Amino acid sequence: MIGIFDSGLGGLTVVKEVFRQLPGYGVVYFGDTARMPYGNKSRKMVTRYALQDAEFLISKGAKVIVIACNTASALAFGALRRKLKVPVIEVVTPAVEKAAAAGGRRIGVIGTRGTVRSGVYESKMRLAAPRADVIPQACPLFVPLVEEGWARRPETVSIAKNYLRPLSLRRIDSLILGCTHYPFLKPVIRRVVGPRVQLIDPAHETVKRLKELIGSRPDLSAGLRRTTRHHFYVSDLTGQFAALARHWLGNDIKLHQTSLE
Ligand code: DGL
Repeated sequence: MIGIFDSGLGGLTVVKEVFRQLPGYGVVYFGDTARMPYGNKSRKMVTRYALQDAEFLISKGAKVIVIACNTASALAFGALRRKLKVPVIEVVTPAVEKAAAAGGRRIGVIGTRGTVRSGVYESKMRLAAPRADVIPQACPLFVPLVEEGWARRPETVSIAKNYLRPLSLRRIDSLILGCTHYPFLKPVIRRVVGPRVQLIDPAHETVKRLKELIGSRPDLSAGLRRTTRHHFYVSDLTGQFAALARHWLGNDIKLHQTSLE
């Protein structure tokens, strides 16, 4: 199976892209809903959780791990790559490469506090597009708004204006959605930043990378099961999560509750 994890719902934006680009490959997902958000936790804690999440997925048959969480990609990718025996893919580098290829001079990055504080986008962008200005903005209220199902509420629009107006004033050319929860807020974000700004959602590029990896590794491709039965595990299964997950991916997805302890 392709193992994908996030702190909650956000990684489902990556799962949707796997269904589009790699149809027929089985997915096992873990959303750490009981311990979310990850975005305001320390590197030590996020690394510990991310390792447990990945090991859980491996115990369920994952042969490759996709860290479908920018915070865990920013803070824990190195540790996962060192400690796990399966290949690991993260979401930051594909986003940076896509933004660099888009060619804008002023690139806004929105993400959790953990991602923004890590400085990972600035350092990777310095290598990929040395002349670009990176303008980061933490949006800590976005994740709870998504998990609450408030993506279209007027309150969300006014919070988005607060976070995004400073970026608009700096006349950004593109905006990286540097948290996998944010694609759920795309209509609101688009409304606030206007039609001129290119929105960069890392899911597409991340899965393209996964597809290339599978294509280049016959051993990996042979080990991945072709099935339309996917499994979605969460550490706390609430009605809210089930409703949003089914709305995003369809009614037939199988949800399970599990405890990592
Ligand atoms: N979806 C996650 C990310 O991409 C983090 C959300 C959170 O738990 O704060 O950063």
